[in-house]
Amino acid sequence: MVTGGSGASGVAVARALALAGYRVATVGSDRTRITAAAQQAGDGVTPFTCDLTDFDGVRQLRAEVGAAVGPVDAVIHLVGGWRGAKGIADQSDDDWDFLERGAVTTLRNVSRVFFDDVAASPAGRFAIVSSTAVDKPTAAVANYVAAKAAAEAWTMAMADGFRRTSEAGGGQAAATILVVKALVDDALRRAHPERKFPGATDVAYLAAAVVRLFDAPAAELNGARLRLAD
Ligand SMILES: NC(=O)c1ccc[n+]([C@@H]2O[C@H](COP(=O)([O-])OP(=O)(O)OC[C@H]3O[C@@H](n4cnc5c(N)ncnc54)[C@H](OP(=O)(O)O)[C@@H]3O)[C@@H](O)[C@H]2O)c1
Repeated sequence: MVTGGSGASGVAVARALALAGYRVATVGSDRTRITAAAQQAGDGVTPFTCDLTDFDGVRQLRAEVGAAVGPVDAVIHLVGGWRGAKGIADQSDDDWDFLERGAVTTLRNVSRVFFDDVAASPAGRFAIVSSTAVDKPTAAVANYVAAKAAAEAWTMAMADGFRRTSEAGGGQAAATILVVKALVDDALRRAHPERKFPGATDVAYLAAAVVRLFDAPAAELNGARLRLAD
């Protein structure tokens, strides 16, 4: 299941997983956008509409995906968003609420609802995409790095949960943080031919890294923070 699948990264990840032979559920908050994204991703990708900030909605999503696609083995969580400002004093509450909802609340809801399914799977994977900005926080993005750092901490806590489940004889699942500086795709490059995007990760490269998560042993990936940026 790809959560936050409506953007370029979601299309690329869903397409790559479907081409690798997986059944893919892709989820967005807007029906029109997620349906278009699933069509772009191609055969084997089924769209679902859910506001992932709504816990009861995510529980309903689990029932819908289970009925239409099957139990969820893996979640690739792509909801995040970005807001910046000039410095510390103008980090706004609106921006914090937006970033906390996108990066943290959606992650908490999705993982609380789907943790047991992923933990019980023989190929359970849960991945988020974080930012190199967390390694070296700057004043202009204080809200952003604080929200992404919280998402990373939550994901590491999930890794502990998966380790405990595995030690108790459950499945072999892994929670992993993929780290990029920025994401870029062909449409963005075409829209800004003058820009260079230094250090940016192409969404196709991110998608290939997601597919590789299913080939590496869970014990190696669980709790790992894998840098995909230069
Ligand atoms: N883009 C970058 O340069 C960059 C840099 C570093 C890290 N990252 C991380 O990489 C991941 C992917 O980034 P991205 O820029 O491709 O995606 P994004 O814009 O952060 O989010 C992906 C999709 O999530 C959907 N979404 C937002 N709120 C939602 C909600 N409440 N419920 C369900 N879906 C929701 C949006 O579609 P709808 O509005 O149609 O639902 C959006 O297209 C994010 O975690 C981001 O923080 C990105």
